[in-house]
Amino acid sequence: MKQQKRGAFTSSFGVMMAVAGSAVGLGNIWRFPFLAGQNGGAAFLILYLCLILLVGLPLILSEFSIGKATHRAAVGAFKELAPRKKWYWIGYVAIVAGFSILGFYSVIAGWTIKFLVEALQNGFAGQSSLEITDSFNSFVNTGWQPILYTGFFIACASWIVMKGVEKGIEKYNKILMPMLIGILLLLSINSMTLSGFGAGMDFLFNPDFSKITTQTVLDAMGQVFFTLSLGMGVMITYSSYVIKEENMLRSKGIVTIIDTSIAIISGIAIFPAVFTYGLEPSQGPALVFITLPNIFAQMPAGFVVGILFFMLLFIASITSVVSIMEMIAAFFIEEYHISRRKSLTYIALAVFVTSVLSALSQMEGSPLVFFGTNIFDWLDKLSSNFFMTFGAFATVIFTGWIFQKERLRKVFTSNGRYSNLIFPVFLFMIRFICPVAVAIIFLSQIGFI
Ligand code: TRP
Repeated sequence: MKQQKRGAFTSSFGVMMAVAGSAVGLGNIWRFPFLAGQNGGAAFLILYLCLILLVGLPLILSEFSIGKATHRAAVGAFKELAPRKKWYWIGYVAIVAGFSILGFYSVIAGWTIKFLVEALQNGFAGQSSLEITDSFNSFVNTGWQPILYTGFFIACASWIVMKGVEKGIEKYNKILMPMLIGILLLLSINSMTLSGFGAGMDFLFNPDFSKITTQTVLDAMGQVFFTLSLGMGVMITYSSYVIKEENMLRSKGIVTIIDTSIAIISGIAIFPAVFTYGLEPSQGPALVFITLPNIFAQMPAGFVVGILFFMLLFIASITSVVSIMEMIAAFFIEEYHISRRKSLTYIALAVFVTSVLSALSQMEGSPLVFFGTNIFDWLDKLSSNFFMTFGAFATVIFTGWIFQKERLRKVFTSNGRYSNLIFPVFLFMIRFICPVAVAIIFLSQIGFI
């Protein structure tokens, strides 16, 4: 009864799409392919896959175990598993992390809407490189335009979450995620017809083991956390809505495979085009808001490809933002008994205010710059370099050493039905390997290593 009232996913496919929706985001599209290309291609890929298996999968399974064992959101789950202890603070850190990610991610998501509108009007066609760069910069510098688009984006995302777990999150992820995969496949098929396909593949896959340095390993590990949305209570919250017995290892394994495949296919869709038009490979906003529009301006099918690409980015960002909003909303609903509608109204307002500040901080000469870094970049840095890794570290220690072993076994194996032999391996990883790995990342991100 309690579970019905708090909302639940109704199908395994729905859970899978929602979790994949959270994991697949801008990181997969604009960061991973470049990271792989720059750092040894196939050699990086092998390293990345090992880290996903050794660290990513055990961590996502830990978060899932915590949520599934308690059917409570981040703060409540820790309160229940470790009563009268301070572990629930991990949940509070997650909320702060969530707000800081939302404060810059929503601004970028707003840009993708603006660019989608532009693509729909065939706005890139005939523009020179310089004009494209200029129009992006002047768009950001108007201040009010990014705010308008961001506001619209926040309204859409909070509207989905307001509709609830089943009728909002599950329903829209079930529609949007297959769409995202379809669009990405179309884009990569198109990319195979380009003359720079070979050069793109070469950049992405050509193995060069000499590029694997300590820094590469750190970067790869950072990407593993970021891409799987770990350390922020989001997976705990989503898993708390899973009421069916499931083979956790299998379903999370599939999500991890989907996430990795999408990251690789994004590279196949993007880099051949970059080389076909003689541009330099890059990453982040410069890649998707400057380099790619340049390509759409020249490519024969640029009109359609541009529209599809910005739709892809929009879907990738909204399904991720929805998962963070749900994590925060679940906290307010559970801990303070505030209605879903009210919680989301407050969250949307708070996120809008933060996003306005971070959008304004990007204007030239903005006073919203502290220690040489504007608010937008601060939010990005703080969330991925600090909060998320801290959250992941605390969660992994909790699961390995505090979570009662028999209870963990029960939830991991669905009462002995699945993966009984894997459980000791999982426990070993989570107790010994993962904490060391996450600690190294944390220390390197805060500048100690
Ligand atoms: N996984 C997302 C991406 O690859 C980004 C992200 C990081 C995220 N932490 C999150 C998304 C928490 C949702 C929730 O872009």
